[in-house]
Amino acid sequence: MELVITESAADAGVLAGRIMADHVRRGARAIGLATGSSPLGAYRELIRQHRDEGLSFAAVRTFNLDEYIGLPPAHPQSYSRFIRDEFTSHVDLLDANVHGPDGNAADIPAAAAEYERAIADSGPIAVQILGIGANGHLGFNEPGSSLRSRTRVKTLTPTTREDNARFFDDDLSQVPTHVITQGLGTIGDAEHLVMIATGSGKADAVAAAVEGPVSAFCPASILQMHPHVTVLVDPDAAAGLQAVDYYRFAVANKPSWQSF
Ligand code: F6R
Repeated sequence: MELVITESAADAGVLAGRIMADHVRRGARAIGLATGSSPLGAYRELIRQHRDEGLSFAAVRTFNLDEYIGLPPAHPQSYSRFIRDEFTSHVDLLDANVHGPDGNAADIPAAAAEYERAIADSGPIAVQILGIGANGHLGFNEPGSSLRSRTRVKTLTPTTREDNARFFDDDLSQVPTHVITQGLGTIGDAEHLVMIATGSGKADAVAAAVEGPVSAFCPASILQMHPHVTVLVDPDAAAGLQAVDYYRFAVANKPSWQSF
């Protein structure tokens, strides 16, 4: 695992975008996308590189991590719409190549199995961008999620619903209670995991995920089991880490031949 403490949240976003862009330039067939605030800077960087540097997504398929159950696809907070509004509609990605789990399927378990098949058919996902919940969730794998779980239904915790109420006019009653999410095993199949966390509200979760025990109670601790992980944090999100000096030393002395 490589842990990079950037000078600012904006720098973390740009670096995440550059890492994803490198994968696309190297011929990634599939990339994994997340919603929420954390990846927005990365998406802005990818859009900029598309506009200014000719970065093309024409041969790429995208796969979202998760989706609320029961929100119509056109709802402003459906993740299917969010990802189009914030990223994919601004680049040369064919809409047919933008995928997410179907939160409105009549048979959700069948939709979950179908999503797993779609990822397997197009994968492997070369790079998966991730945020982390204040409670350590990854995707919508809430504390207690099986470390080998696949795409399935989860019930959101009260804290996640409260955290996400900001996207629903601060009205908790509008936040769905259930979601369909890639499992921790599904996420772990991606070749490179890039997690971005900014702000003091993420400091405890980052410390638990990176330096705590691997545990279903901190789903993001599965990062410790993966062979290729980059964690990008701003100083506020790094505040709970013990080995900050070592992480900074490793980045400052990174061999010139070693990419992210
Ligand atoms: C979003 C997702 C979640 C978020 C996490 C952090 O697709 O899967 O795990 O990444 O809740 O959300 P933000 O970035 O809004 O703090």
